[in-house]
Amino acid sequence: MDNDGRGTIPSFFGHLFLLLLATTTAADDSATMSKLLQGLSPAPQGWSSSTSYCKWSGVSCDSSSHVTTINLASMSLSGTLPSDLSSLSYLKSLSLSTNSLSGPIPSFANLASIEEISLDHNNFTDLPSGTFRGLTSLQALSINYNPNLKPWTITEVDLVGSPSLVSLYASNSNIIGSLPDFFSSFPSLQHVRLSYNNINGSLPPSLGGSSVQTLWLNNQGQGLSGTLDVLSKMTQLNQAWLHKNQFTGPIPDLSKCKSLFDLELRDNLLTGIVPMSLMSLPNIQNVSLDKNKLQGPLPENPKNIKLTYGDVNSFCRSSPGPCDPQVMTMLEVAGALGYPIMLADSWSGNDACKGWSFVTCLDKNVTSVVLSKQHLAGSISPAFGNLTSLRTLLLNDNNLTGSIPDILASLPNLETLDVSNNNLSGLVPTFSEKVKLIKSGNPLLGKKISGRDGGVAGSFNASSLSGGAIAVIVIAILISVSVLLFIIFWCFCSKERKWESKRITSSMYRIKSSNHPTKEPLNHNDIGKSNIRNFDNGNVMFSIQFLRQVTDNFCPRNIIGKGGFGTVYKGVNEDGQEIAVKRMESTAMSGKGVDEFQAEIAVLTQVRHRHLVTLLGFCVNGNERLLVYEYMPGGTLSHHLFDQQQRRNSPISWRQRLTIAVDVARGVEYLHSLAKQSFIHRDLKPSNILLGDDMRAKVADFGLVRNAPDGKYSVETRLAGTFGYLAPEYAATGKVTTKIDVFSFGVILMEMITGRKALDDTVSDEMSHLVTWFRRILIAKEELSKVIDRSLDLDEETLESIAKVAKLAGHCTARDPQQRPDMGHVVNALSPLVEQWSPETRELEDDVWISDLSLNLPLNQVVARWQNEGTATMFGNYTSTTTSYVPSQDDSSVPSRA
Ligand SMILES: Nc1ncnc2c1ncn2[C@@H]1O[C@H](COP(=O)(O)OP(=O)(O)OP(=O)(O)O)[C@@H](O)[C@H]1O
Ligand SMILES: *[C@@H]1O[C@H](CO)[C@@H](O)[C@H](O)[C@H]1NC(C)=O
Ligand SMILES: *[C@@H]1O[C@H](CO)[C@@H](O)[C@H](O)[C@H]1NC(C)=O
Ligand SMILES: *[C@@H]1O[C@H](CO)[C@@H](O)[C@H](O)[C@H]1NC(C)=O
Ligand SMILES: *[C@@H]1O[C@H](CO)[C@@H](O)[C@H](O)[C@H]1NC(C)=O
Ligand SMILES: *[C@@H]1O[C@H](CO)[C@@H](O)[C@H](O)[C@H]1NC(C)=O
Ligand SMILES: *[C@@H]1O[C@H](CO)[C@@H](O)[C@H](O)[C@H]1NC(C)=O
Repeated sequence: MDNDGRGTIPSFFGHLFLLLLATTTAADDSATMSKLLQGLSPAPQGWSSSTSYCKWSGVSCDSSSHVTTINLASMSLSGTLPSDLSSLSYLKSLSLSTNSLSGPIPSFANLASIEEISLDHNNFTDLPSGTFRGLTSLQALSINYNPNLKPWTITEVDLVGSPSLVSLYASNSNIIGSLPDFFSSFPSLQHVRLSYNNINGSLPPSLGGSSVQTLWLNNQGQGLSGTLDVLSKMTQLNQAWLHKNQFTGPIPDLSKCKSLFDLELRDNLLTGIVPMSLMSLPNIQNVSLDKNKLQGPLPENPKNIKLTYGDVNSFCRSSPGPCDPQVMTMLEVAGALGYPIMLADSWSGNDACKGWSFVTCLDKNVTSVVLSKQHLAGSISPAFGNLTSLRTLLLNDNNLTGSIPDILASLPNLETLDVSNNNLSGLVPTFSEKVKLIKSGNPLLGKKISGRDGGVAGSFNASSLSGGAIAVIVIAILISVSVLLFIIFWCFCSKERKWESKRITSSMYRIKSSNHPTKEPLNHNDIGKSNIRNFDNGNVMFSIQFLRQVTDNFCPRNIIGKGGFGTVYKGVNEDGQEIAVKRMESTAMSGKGVDEFQAEIAVLTQVRHRHLVTLLGFCVNGNERLLVYEYMPGGTLSHHLFDQQQRRNSPISWRQRLTIAVDVARGVEYLHSLAKQSFIHRDLKPSNILLGDDMRAKVADFGLVRNAPDGKYSVETRLAGTFGYLAPEYAATGKVTTKIDVFSFGVILMEMITGRKALDDTVSDEMSHLVTWFRRILIAKEELSKVIDRSLDLDEETLESIAKVAKLAGHCTARDPQQRPDMGHVVNALSPLVEQWSPETRELEDDVWISDLSLNLPLNQVVARWQNEGTATMFGNYTSTTTSYVPSQDDSSVPSRA
């Protein structure tokens, strides 16, 4: 680019002009001015080629006829500007605003005198790069409202050579790209108005030390993002328009912004608690906070300023005042994580136990917080220490820094703490033995942080170690060695490994866990003749090596239960995913051949329902059969109902029992409706009902005892089931219908009501068989309250609900199977009770809850697979369970579908 306009050769027209005027001064400016005149239409009033340009209206010159000012604002001009405007090297002020000028904005580069350029409200089309380069005197630039400009970036027009800039106005002028971190180049910049553009990225840090007073960045197309933290350092700020963007994180502490009077933050994604100081800033007048995701207490408004906050947001209450302490604790937890948006969405309202995601509660107290793999940064808040009922805290696989707060070690009920795969550092607090602590994948953890800089003392310099430190190290080594020995002795794990590896047979296939979709191709011959198609969806077959690995070689420490069929181990893979592995001798499967076993399991793994424990796959190892299930962290219903004394469980409320009952009924209904003849559970009981962290239930162990075609049941069926839950006709004849499950379900309802086991040898004979005793009381219409579990809190509503369920339990256990309702009816009878109790459970139902490990296979595909398998003889019509139950007039009759 030509640096010096005065050196250009005048045009032919310029010569003519010169001749006509017969003047020799300021030859260069006259050429440019006449080009300017030529390009404009109509010619501005008072501009004529026959008079000296210094006399044109709006133009002023210095004593040497150098143009210093051009003011053509609001002259209804159209046309274009000459490309060599920058040859007016004495120009101080140019105003062309409010016209209809079009075409490119010419370069102003190196106009060392220019102080003010205003091009607002025109129709310019281009703003070439370098246009504002080297404007060393520039104080005010404004190009607002040029909506037809080709998208441009602030960086490319190059303003950094203008240290005197005071105001930069370019609203609605099609700026794209980010706001450069250039504010330290403009020590005098006070007014930045860049509204209605497409600026993206975050607020640059150099805004912090700037003298910017007016900051208009509202209504960016896609929106600026990142946090508002830098505002806290903008001590001169008085007006901040930041609405309609994508700013995230909390509103920072603005107490240093003493002049701030107008803060527009509405329509962003702001989270967290509004700082108390905001509303008492000395000059504050206008604040808008609406349409964000702000949490915690509503800001008080002591000065009665103009405040809007109403829309959306996640405040705990609709009027100012403190939130529930548990809510505040949880918000502090969120705060240490930078108030991530995904927590703000559901962590709203004044009850942390009401629909908050990642949180589960028992009786209004938070018992588990599961935030694994949520891309969280930040630190672990010591506020977790206030959640005294907390049992499970999973923070693994994030990017957390800082140390593990000591106070976590004093949580009385903590059972599992998983902080693996983060960036934690510092010493690990000493947890009690019962806490399962997973902390691998934190390279800096356990090393001492050096006091001053927070850095890590990585290298060991023996000579600098004090005697005390050496003693500590020696003790630590001794302790670790003894712990190691203890583990080895207790588990015999390494011994078992050697012994077992000899028994690995060739029928093993390596399939990685479902988090690693890579699997080696399955060998058809190895699988046998069974239908290959069943193996193409999910990891049906697990290798024994994998199962050994995830269960620490079937270490006794990992046993979570023993049942009639075998031992159940918990397994955790490298990703922290949990599975339950049931290990059985093949005799438990009534001596079925491997092929048959595989085919059967293949089908069962395809059966997926929210209230059925998913069978993920199996493994055959010599005589052993292993089944792999999704892991259910909440344990069995029977633990929760009957083992309260031993466990620290608080008794489960009636509402929770009802919810569990409906869950179970739905799961069983699904089994029955899938294929009437083939999926009868036969062994429904509380120990086969497993609970999730959220106390929602799933039915386990279905499908293992296969039904034979009608009529032949006596040949193949050994009596499966458990005394106390057996329907009388089944016990007597072995005849299997869906109604035997209904009977067992009725018994479970009775157990939920009474808190007593189906068979209880510890009480009088008259009471020991629950069904007999309970039905007698029902029929005699005795006072129901005397059979109700004493740990239930009774009010009128609860009593009424229990009475209805008791009646239903009676129907389900009718002697004559014909008189028992089917599972669909049961669902319809129970679900209104739950909904009446807690309307939000309906929402929960809609929200399909499938564990990480499961595949959600549509029902029709399941059925199609069944048909291909040829195992099912008939299909029940799958009816939606949402049909509502209309109570019949006769209260004693069996409920029927509407
Ligand atoms: N998927 C699972 N997740 C968590 N725990 C489980 C899981 N499956 C089973 N368990 C635990 O293992 C125990 C034993 O289960 P299993 O199904 O073998 O026996 P059961 O149901 O108690 O009796 P039965 O063998 O007569 O059905 C259960 O009581 C439960 O505590
Ligand atoms: C602006 O320019 C475009 C063409 O570039 C034209 O279509 C439009 O009418 C102009 N608008 C005004 C207000 O002059
Ligand atoms: C900002 O916008 C530009 C172009 O419009 C795009 O290339 C860039 O990726 C965007 N940056 C961010 C952080 O969204
Ligand atoms: C506050 O907002 C109202 C409405 O938007 C506006 O009229 C008023 O001028 C604002 N006051 C200040 C001090 O900005
Ligand atoms: C935690 O509990 C202590 C003592 O009860 C209380 O002072 C503190 O404010 C609580 N913190 C939170 C975040 O609730
Ligand atoms: C819930 O927490 C409160 C306060 O910590 C405690 O008093 C109460 O016993 C807890 N309830 C349960 C069921 O743990
Ligand atoms: C984790 O955080 C550090 C800084 O805190 C950052 O540099 C790094 O990129 C982050 N890693 C991921 C995967 O987010």
